[in-house]
Amino acid sequence: MAKAEQIIQLLKSYQAGDDSRFYAIAMQVAAHEARKGHSKIASEIKELIDLAKKNKRQNNVISISQSSSIIQSLVVETKPKCKLSDLTFSDVQKDLFQRVLQEFSQQEKLNKYNLKARRKLLLTGPPGTGKTFTASAFASELKLPLYTVRLDSLITKYMGETASKLRQIFEFMRTAPGVYLFDEFDAIGSDRLTPNDTGEIRRVLNSFLQFLEEDNSESLIVCATNYKKLLDTALFRRFDDLIVYDLPERNQIKKLITNQLHLFDTDTLIWEKIEVEAIGLSHAEISRACDDAAKKSIFKATETIDTSNLVSMLKLRQQSKIK
Ligand SMILES: Nc1ncnc2c1ncn2[C@@H]1O[C@H](COP(=O)(O)OP(=O)(O)OP(=O)(O)O)[C@@H](O)[C@H]1O
Ligand SMILES: [Mg+2]
Repeated sequence: MAKAEQIIQLLKSYQAGDDSRFYAIAMQVAAHEARKGHSKIASEIKELIDLAKKNKRQNNVISISQSSSIIQSLVVETKPKCKLSDLTFSDVQKDLFQRVLQEFSQQEKLNKYNLKARRKLLLTGPPGTGKTFTASAFASELKLPLYTVRLDSLITKYMGETASKLRQIFEFMRTAPGVYLFDEFDAIGSDRLTPNDTGEIRRVLNSFLQFLEEDNSESLIVCATNYKKLLDTALFRRFDDLIVYDLPERNQIKKLITNQLHLFDTDTLIWEKIEVEAIGLSHAEISRACDDAAKKSIFKATETIDTSNLVSMLKLRQQSKIK
């Protein structure tokens, strides 16, 4: 049994609302019991402490509707339901995704050994290769809300006070754990000058990097860009991980198309011909060509997709790309 003195200390810290002291004393009691060989009681106390910490965190979570109007104008909350397995990714990407999800969902295990989970990610690659989708899928798989930060609004609406607004976003991040997506990160991550540029964009970027470095929230921060030049700068070193996206290669094209057309019969497709037409297109463009081919088949009252149908839809996508 705990000593009377420990019970007094527990009650005092409870009354003062000092959670960390309360947990520390409870842990001392658990350690005391473990030393006496009462391992069952010791592990029961530890489990109760973990549970109390978890509940406390959940109760502290605030939603966007309770936040300031500034945050509401800059951050959009959604609750996505998509899964990473819904799309086609390379094995390298899948391994990286898995590592992020495993580390993030088991942060406490790592913290015990003074290790930190990857939380700050930079996704880069051409349009339509699944960057935005990845952030949604992370939120869905981690059962967290997705908060998309509107960098364009930040710059246009709050010219001159962007750094203070950005600080408010990072403060909100600490009170509302979630996946924070800074989409179209090029808006601040590039060094291109806009016609009215007054150095504001550079200031936003510098503040962003400073807040990113200082951030020790429980949120996952995902920045997405198709501006390759970011990789040449020192910028990406501020992130825990860089995930590179690329146009699909031949072996991925087949997977992508069979996945997209899984409700149809694709057995007669001549893959050599299809791959030649699809190479150079993004995942998004190939998916749309598949949808167009599927619609054509539906109107012809057949569930078979034939090669000429798909090839013609891919050709159209190639042509609209060149324009
Ligand atoms: N890897 C993929 N596998 C299958 N479909 C994909 C893939 N990537 C993108 N798509 C299709 O394209 C749509 C758009 O993808 P997404 O918005 O994630 O692209 P993005 O990389 O963020 O593009 P952008 O750079 O233009 O913002 C997806 O909803 C999906 O239908
Ligand atoms: Mg995107």
